[in-house]
Amino acid sequence: MNADHASNTSDLPELPETSTEARKQHAEISDRIRSFNQAYYINDEPLVPDAEYDALFNRLIELETHYPTLKKNSPTQEVGAAPADGFAKVKHARPMLSLGNAFSREDIVDFLARIRRFLSLTAHSPIEVVGEPKIDGLSLSLRYENRQLVTAATRGDGSEGEDVTANVAHISDIPKTLPDDAPDVVEIRGEVYMARSAFQKLNETQSQTGGKTFANPRNAAAGSLRQLDPAISAKRPLRFFAYSFGELSESLAQTQWNFLQKVDGWGFTINPLTRLLNDADDIMAFYDELGVLRPDLDYDIDGIVYKVNDFELQLRLGFVSRSPRWAIAHKFPAERARTRLNAIEVQVGRTGALTPVARLEPVTVGGVVVSNATLHNRDEIDRLGVRVGDMVVIQRAGDVIPQVVEVILDERPEDTVEYQFPDTCPKCGSHAMREEGEAATRCTGGLICPAQAVERLKHFVSRNAFDIDGMGAKNVETFFELGWVKSPGDIFRLETLHADEIKKLEGWGEKSATKLFDGVNERRTIGLDRFIYALGIRQIGQATAKLLARHYGSITEWRSSIIAANEADSDALRELINIDQIGPGVAKDLIGFMAEEHNLEVLDDLQDLLTINDVEAPTVSDNPVSGKTVVFTGKLELFSRNEAKVRAESLGAKVAGSVSAKTDYLVAGPGAGSKLKKAEELGVTVLDEQGWLDLIAAE
Ligand code: IVH
Repeated sequence: MNADHASNTSDLPELPETSTEARKQHAEISDRIRSFNQAYYINDEPLVPDAEYDALFNRLIELETHYPTLKKNSPTQEVGAAPADGFAKVKHARPMLSLGNAFSREDIVDFLARIRRFLSLTAHSPIEVVGEPKIDGLSLSLRYENRQLVTAATRGDGSEGEDVTANVAHISDIPKTLPDDAPDVVEIRGEVYMARSAFQKLNETQSQTGGKTFANPRNAAAGSLRQLDPAISAKRPLRFFAYSFGELSESLAQTQWNFLQKVDGWGFTINPLTRLLNDADDIMAFYDELGVLRPDLDYDIDGIVYKVNDFELQLRLGFVSRSPRWAIAHKFPAERARTRLNAIEVQVGRTGALTPVARLEPVTVGGVVVSNATLHNRDEIDRLGVRVGDMVVIQRAGDVIPQVVEVILDERPEDTVEYQFPDTCPKCGSHAMREEGEAATRCTGGLICPAQAVERLKHFVSRNAFDIDGMGAKNVETFFELGWVKSPGDIFRLETLHADEIKKLEGWGEKSATKLFDGVNERRTIGLDRFIYALGIRQIGQATAKLLARHYGSITEWRSSIIAANEADSDALRELINIDQIGPGVAKDLIGFMAEEHNLEVLDDLQDLLTINDVEAPTVSDNPVSGKTVVFTGKLELFSRNEAKVRAESLGAKVAGSVSAKTDYLVAGPGAGSKLKKAEELGVTVLDEQGWLDLIAAE
């Protein structure tokens, strides 16, 4: 990191406690990230050190883990920046995507386990991967038609990049023609980079001639490739490693390894440190080895990319969001720093969870000034044995918020005392309790805890719930304190009951009040999924709310079924836990919610005030399984249950856990037992795995 940059760093905002704050913070950071992207990718002049950018980007990911809908229109779903104006745009025939990150052996073991699970392989079956140094440059897609290079395009936003064809003419690692055995259409992808030695020389000449110098080889490479004047670009010593492909009119190989050999033979340069690896041990050994070589390489690498070698497996594994399931980037270590822990504060969330946060003496970690770190929960504090006043080691790993990792006991001041995790809620004083098997300690104040009540209301109006324009976290707090909004229904009575008073509040007037009422009125009609999510029932996030809405279809059906499910051994209970992905824990929280009289009152009130729209399962036309209910049973050998489920749902089918009269297909692998018997009794169509594959392949 360039030392000049350290003074420019700014703090990461505190972790938000509520979804409204999270949304606000997400929007603010997104704006900053977009302007950094613009500066970095388009103007080649980074505004902030990489580490600061990473910290902000990781905060977005962190927020999205808690509030998945924030992902919509988030920079985390975009790759880089939209193309600059000066270059012609090129639409990529296949999108240029990104990679998920791994930081530890555990992450690697998980990565391999996920692949095995997805492919339904046994725990120890070998998965060959290719390990390639992760070059810190910029990716480029080269398109050859009839064996001639026709376009070179930067990644841009992943779907559209810039046409830099004229600027790659002088890059000797990029062949301009391909041999006769190459197919008619070939897109080769790889990384353009500048060697460290060349970067130093370039900066020397630049400063001698009064030109612009670059912060690091990556920016120099980007700036050089994206020179509007190809004559200048030609003078910049750029290089290229090939590692992947886009559109191909014919397959080139069956494995990544053979692909690399093939393109090597065509005149591309492949990284000489590329290695075929067989298991986690191999991978870790390679990681350590490269870690040692790293400082002496003539180019920057920021990790290692592992790719499943077999293309057929890659195809089956597919992608999640913007990254492939079959590849991962293993990053070199997180940065750590020492600082003093000044205080531990406990925040109270919507469900009453008490989260301890460390307030730190501000310290720079990898270029970012950090003054807060999470301590997660009571166990974590015990594990660390941390006390107020301690010197601690904090860490900023790739995709997580700063964490306290260690206490430096040798430097513990004499007057410190053991930290007592509160046994009462810091907001309402109610007893704080920890249920067995739960990590969180919760305030038991429920409805009387103002912190929880306000947080629930904030959740209710938040973006992924009712999304009420003009009703931010601050207004919720104000109306709550004034006693005008105590329960969600009150929001819809504000206009009739408090219009005049609101207009007279400080900072309010006719206009802002009307805007608020318009915002509220616009949301008097809402979809069932959002409605369920808005209730803020513990464990019912957006995905589960959608699932429930899709399954029950209407508010009346949902409500009465959950009430009925409170009866042990009832059909309603069986139906609930048979919904795929609804476990006993979620079912318990749902039933518990509906068993509370005051919650039913809130529901009654809202049902009176609002129109809650039914949800219909999406149908994917032309597919025989669209809208059908499928159950998978027995030992599946051709695919994993998860792969089958993901695929079935993408075709519009519902996947259920048990056979009933509503089941359309039972897909039975070897060893199927009671479900198969029941399906036969009920006359449900039974398929074997191949039968299922044939069915979904049918048009
Ligand atoms: S494969 C769908 N292989 O890392 C997979 N990427 O975080 C596409 N990178 O955008 C990427 N070396 O700019 C791949 N050997 C390598 C790489 C590599 C560097 C960069 C590339 C990509 C980013 C992903």
